[in-house]
Amino acid sequence: MAIDNSLKPLFEPRSIAIIGASRSPGKIGHTIMKNIIEYGYKGKIYPINPKADEILGYKAYKSVVEVPDEIDMAIIVVPEQVVPKVAEECGKKGVKVLVVITSGFSEVGNVEAERKLVEIARRYGMRILGPNIFGIAYTPAKLNATFGPKDVLEGPIAFITQSGALGIALMGWTIMEEIGISALVSMGNMADIDVIDVSKYLANDPNTKVITIYLEGLKPGTGRKFIEEMKKVTVKKPVIVIKAGRSKRGAAAAASHTGSLAGSDNLYQAAFKQAGIIRAYTTEEMFDWARAFASQPIPRGEETIIITNGGGVGVLATDAAEEHNVKLLDPSPELKEKFKKTMPWFGSAKNPIDLTGQAVVENYVEALRTAFESDEIHNIILLYCRTAILDPRDLANAIVKLYGEYKGTAHSKPLVAGFVGGEDVREAIRLLNKNGIPAYPSAERAVASIAKMIWYMRYLNKIKSRK
Ligand code: ACO
Repeated sequence: MAIDNSLKPLFEPRSIAIIGASRSPGKIGHTIMKNIIEYGYKGKIYPINPKADEILGYKAYKSVVEVPDEIDMAIIVVPEQVVPKVAEECGKKGVKVLVVITSGFSEVGNVEAERKLVEIARRYGMRILGPNIFGIAYTPAKLNATFGPKDVLEGPIAFITQSGALGIALMGWTIMEEIGISALVSMGNMADIDVIDVSKYLANDPNTKVITIYLEGLKPGTGRKFIEEMKKVTVKKPVIVIKAGRSKRGAAAAASHTGSLAGSDNLYQAAFKQAGIIRAYTTEEMFDWARAFASQPIPRGEETIIITNGGGVGVLATDAAEEHNVKLLDPSPELKEKFKKTMPWFGSAKNPIDLTGQAVVENYVEALRTAFESDEIHNIILLYCRTAILDPRDLANAIVKLYGEYKGTAHSKPLVAGFVGGEDVREAIRLLNKNGIPAYPSAERAVASIAKMIWYMRYLNKIKSRK
């Protein structure tokens, strides 16, 4: 896949002009500049404002053409009527990419203004992100050019969003949930750069392991292109899409939101399947699965084992496995023997491996070691129910240690955890996630996450077998 270098200045600009950087705290043009500075951007920052001499400690310029330096990215935060004038100046200056925050274009029927903006950009060879967006963040470059929350956590999950407000909300949510982000891109009206362009760029980004997309709809006539181009992305990296506007009323809402066609949901469903895209139905699912892809290796096979200390969660997980088409291993007699040694005599070495409510850290460690060592097993679902005798934090620490022994070795295999209980269980889940073991507060969420990894493995195998 050809690498589109025209998007590099969008993710790793060497210099940024903020056109409409405001003197007033609280205004969008002020917040964006503050975020850029405070998040630690290392490139040059140039506020542009004809009424100011200085903003947030940086010398201000009356126009971008006056800046005595090259400008890679110009963030436009002036009212719609002023946008053509400043865009024209950016063109003259040789700016490479415009990030147009301003609203009031095709999303409200002002198609002509948007066409004119694109025409100016094309004339000067500039790319446009937006208009009608909250900005872009790329954490490896310490860039947070958004007016969303500042302290985005670094990590390997990219998030592309066609909704601004939801995007900002989810930015905050990823911080709260300690989900590490590589890139966060607000798409808005997609007058020029679209979801396909950004996905293709991120497919080649070494800092991104999985791409998540909140999609409302594609531009008319781009469906076929979407399938063909996204196929090239999904062979490189998993792509998880949450597609809004499934219902008739939802589709109408999407049309007036970003001016995109929601289209028939069946068509999208078929397109996603063809393109190898994983479809999520809730934002929680999307980030659950992304967490698993972000840290775990792609499965090498179907055979999955459940290890638990609670019969109940084991049964729930078994039901969920069947629903999600996860194949549970029937362990060989030799493997059963090995598991038997890890549990009290009244435990079960069938799958689920039930260590019983008597299980202590050592039982889990030995069972997990057996699962890692066994070539019969490809994927591990580790479940835990709060018991009086086993502190979940002790268990989490022991799992992290053992996981470290196997990570990156020939015995490494996908591991997900479902821990059920109260506040201390929550702490254990945090600890596991922090250490790269995807952990969830229910068995079902753990099973669903491994199921999507297995689905993706099957997709890749199908593609390989066609070649
Ligand atoms: N060049 C540079 N700066 C200029 C120029 C110019 N030619 N003309 C004016 N400015 C300055 C202004 O003086 C002002 O600075 P000041 O506050 O120090 O005086 C600054 O630019 C901003 O101009 P205002 O007229 O104050 O505009 P305001 O900040 O009220 O609004 C904005 C501009 C934010 C772009 C608005 O038009 C807009 O589109 N808002 C919506 C943005 C949005 O929500 N985008 C979608 C995000 S997605 C979501 O849903 C969250």
